[in-house]
Amino acid sequence: MERHIQRFLNKVSLLSITIATITLLFLFLQTPETCIPHDTTLKPHLRFPKSTCDSSPRHYLPLPKKNTRLWSSKSWITQVSSFTQLFTQLYKMGLLKKHSKVLCVSAGAGHEVMALSKMGVEDVTGVEVIESLPLVSKADPHNLPFFDGAFDVAFTGHLVEALYPRRYAGEMERTVREGGVCVVVVDECGDEEVKEIVWLFRRSRLVGTSNVTLNRRRVTRIILRTIASA
Ligand SMILES: *[C@@H]1O[C@H](CO)[C@@H](O)[C@H](O)[C@H]1NC(C)=O
Repeated sequence: MERHIQRFLNKVSLLSITIATITLLFLFLQTPETCIPHDTTLKPHLRFPKSTCDSSPRHYLPLPKKNTRLWSSKSWITQVSSFTQLFTQLYKMGLLKKHSKVLCVSAGAGHEVMALSKMGVEDVTGVEVIESLPLVSKADPHNLPFFDGAFDVAFTGHLVEALYPRRYAGEMERTVREGGVCVVVVDECGDEEVKEIVWLFRRSRLVGTSNVTLNRRRVTRIILRTIASA
């Protein structure tokens, strides 16, 4: 009698194993229906994987080629020239010189870095959370990997988007030498908002505020001078 039960149980186990194996095989071999044929009308750099099962080869452009393409685009050129205008104003004010060491924080793809370099500023550093070599290297704006007072000028157009604006501003101030300047560009705003931004810079005093156009946007340019480095 006991043997009977044992044999029966063995058969049940064997059957379960077989069913499980077949199910697994089926799942493994089946192609999910979410796979959509490639839209070949799109340019390679606009094609994104449609699903996780999209295994069609991705064509990555080598970096120099990619940059040549990017830097010759109309949008790039217009933005760089807009930054050039902004920095030319600083140059005329005597705040920026050819031998100035300039730091661009949250420099994105590096428009401002290129603008400064093309103007003949010799020492320009661009940082962003995601690098865009060769113009912009990777660094956290809240924790800049530079010595105190390493720069003459720090520039950013992204302070208000910062997670911790106080810390962000503090890092800009820290890396700028005593007597150097921090230049912040924000969406055009009135005195109250300017005051709030100036408040973030505990070791600087306001040099001046001005409403200008940058990349077809009306912005307020705030210039602060660092008064003490510690
Ligand atoms: C900039 O424009 C705002 C209004 O958009 C105005 O309140 C502010 O006073 C202007 N700032 C300067 C420095 O002209």
